[in-house]
Amino acid sequence: MDQPKLTAEMLKADPRVVEAKRLLREALAEHSEKLARRDPLPELQADYEAALSQFADLRGNPLYYPFLGSGIGRGSLVELADGSVKYDMISGIGVHVCGHSLPELVDVLTDAAIEDTVMQGNLQQNRESLEVCQRLVTLARGQGAPIDHCFLTSSGAMANENALKILFQHRTGSHRILAFDHAFAGRSIVLSQITDRPRYRAGLPATIPVDFVPFYNPDAGEESQHDAVAALRMYLTRYPGAHCGFIMELVQGEGGYRTAPKSFFAALCEELRSASVPIYFDEIQTFGRTLAPFAYQMLGLDQYADIVTVGKMTQVCATLFGGAMNPKPGLLSQTFTSSTTALLAAKYILDRLQHGGFYGPDGRNAQIHRRFCIRFEKLNQRHPELIRGPFGVGGMVALTALDGSAAAAKRVLTELFSAGVIAFAAGSDPTRIRFLPSLLAVSDDEIEAVCDILEQTLLRSHQESSGSPA
Ligand SMILES: Cc1ncc(COP(=O)(O)O)c(C=O)c1O
Repeated sequence: MDQPKLTAEMLKADPRVVEAKRLLREALAEHSEKLARRDPLPELQADYEAALSQFADLRGNPLYYPFLGSGIGRGSLVELADGSVKYDMISGIGVHVCGHSLPELVDVLTDAAIEDTVMQGNLQQNRESLEVCQRLVTLARGQGAPIDHCFLTSSGAMANENALKILFQHRTGSHRILAFDHAFAGRSIVLSQITDRPRYRAGLPATIPVDFVPFYNPDAGEESQHDAVAALRMYLTRYPGAHCGFIMELVQGEGGYRTAPKSFFAALCEELRSASVPIYFDEIQTFGRTLAPFAYQMLGLDQYADIVTVGKMTQVCATLFGGAMNPKPGLLSQTFTSSTTALLAAKYILDRLQHGGFYGPDGRNAQIHRRFCIRFEKLNQRHPELIRGPFGVGGMVALTALDGSAAAAKRVLTELFSAGVIAFAAGSDPTRIRFLPSLLAVSDDEIEAVCDILEQTLLRSHQESSGSPA
């Protein structure tokens, strides 16, 4: 006998809802397919500038880019409220993995729009909260990582805060933390101590002692591994039993798209295991983008994953951890875990990533990286003074432009933006230019078009700065 259906299921299956979704998809496709790269429309310029200036006044500082989206796009293309249409190669720093206005996603989000609540949290978790947790734990355990639990939250910083709370409780009394040079962990007061950027913690109280271990230096090779292990041993000896964990980005994001061979991380992880210090992979920027769903899987470091955080492209952020770390009731709770739209989008994205051929040496992520690399290499052969790189892996792509200074990166980024490509800076000394394309949407043609614009922009920028043709 058929089980009686829930009223919510009857609503979703209602022919009016099904037809409304079809009409929405049709209208969206009809309008978005007209979009192509375009300069700002002069007739919108005055209002746009007034809106930007009002926004700067309200938030106290101007936006990094003069970017106010209109609310529509197509693939990597996004329309701004000044009428311009640009290639979005940074996707909100890795968030918009579906690109802009993906019709299938709009379909999924329409289901969210007719659910009963905007937000979900500690006293109301709809079924999709459970389903997202199930998917994340299954993915995380895919190659044997000892992950049993998943706690959802609404930002990467909160996922990291929750991870720290779990670690501090697990190792009660151990109040120091280990991190890498160039680390970025988020914007809370504690996380800005772990973040290796003095400017990001200017004026804030020092709340947690952080011991920084040198990250891998590809120019020094094995010596670099030796130095890092020696530094770690020194901290473990100087402060016995005092560390709650070691937070690691396996591909440093804000730090400049640096990574290391498996042996480098494994050597450190073995030291940490011997000292019973938990290992904590921050995969907020790397999740989904490397050659496996998690960077620790790509590097074969599964056995060391005691605690893992994800965010950005998952839309909903999460802290994943093993049974031994399960905190006591009362430690973690939130009014908001996330919005219903973000949860349904997360479910959709995790399914697409898992079954869409993104991973492995010939998966889509590797192909995207290769396409950028081929173009960078060609450019490098003709104009070695313009770029160095590529750096990063899979859907994390970076290059060093011109002299690698922060000023040069800013100039190139500003010129790229005007020419119709949105990218962003990463790291300092050198400051690199990074691309985080929308993995589910970016096409090979879009990458080619972006690289054409990049090449012209770099040539122009070099000519202007040197006063001579490149
Ligand atoms: C590695 C890493 N950790 C943590 C965060 C913080 O995430 P959120 O900005 O969502 O708080 C980021 C954001 O860029 C990140 O790249």
